[in-house]
Amino acid sequence: MAFEKVNVNDLCFSPVKAIGEDWGILTGVSGKGFNSMTVSWGSVGVLWSRPVVFAFVRPGRHTYGFMNDGEMFSLAIMNKEIHKKMAVFGSKSGRDVDKYKESGLTAVFEDGVPFPEEAELVFVCRKIAKGDISPDWFIDEGIDPDNYPKKDYHRMFIGEIVTVLKKV
Ligand SMILES: Cc1cc2nc3c(=O)[nH]c(=O)nc-3n(C[C@H](O)[C@H](O)[C@H](O)COP(=O)(O)O)c2cc1C
Repeated sequence: MAFEKVNVNDLCFSPVKAIGEDWGILTGVSGKGFNSMTVSWGSVGVLWSRPVVFAFVRPGRHTYGFMNDGEMFSLAIMNKEIHKKMAVFGSKSGRDVDKYKESGLTAVFEDGVPFPEEAELVFVCRKIAKGDISPDWFIDEGIDPDNYPKKDYHRMFIGEIVTVLKKV
């Protein structure tokens, strides 16, 4: 599949639909390799006057180590129609299986950063900040019991968008 580079300011899409409904595949890459997992929480926006991606990863995920150690990551927006094919990315761990082999998706690279070739839109990001969600952030009392019965608070990764690729 072919991609074209696009200017982030020329993008016209809903991050809420793209991440929340179409879902993303988040890939962390470090000196030890890379790992990809499904995400449906996150955002694309602006912070510190830079275009950024926000991604949220629980500490138990295999992807967590790669996101922590690496300088770069990618967020690939997928097409809803391949959710079935993507199932392994959100249900199994890269510790146990080769998700690309099992799903039939193909990992391709942009400047050394991997992402699935089947993506619709890809944000290649340079990690610029991270921090752990903490219960003292919560104003809405439902957030903690609804999302963190195991107290495994997500780590938020903020990546400056360096390249945007759109499926041609
Ligand atoms: C639709 C969907 C959305 C998900 N969103 C997230 C997310 O935003 N953050 C997260 O930490 N886990 C999320 N997960 C769970 C991980 O994708 C899942 O635990 C995965 O197997 C982790 O793989 P890993 O251990 O190889 O990193 C989601 C799962 C699904 C099915």
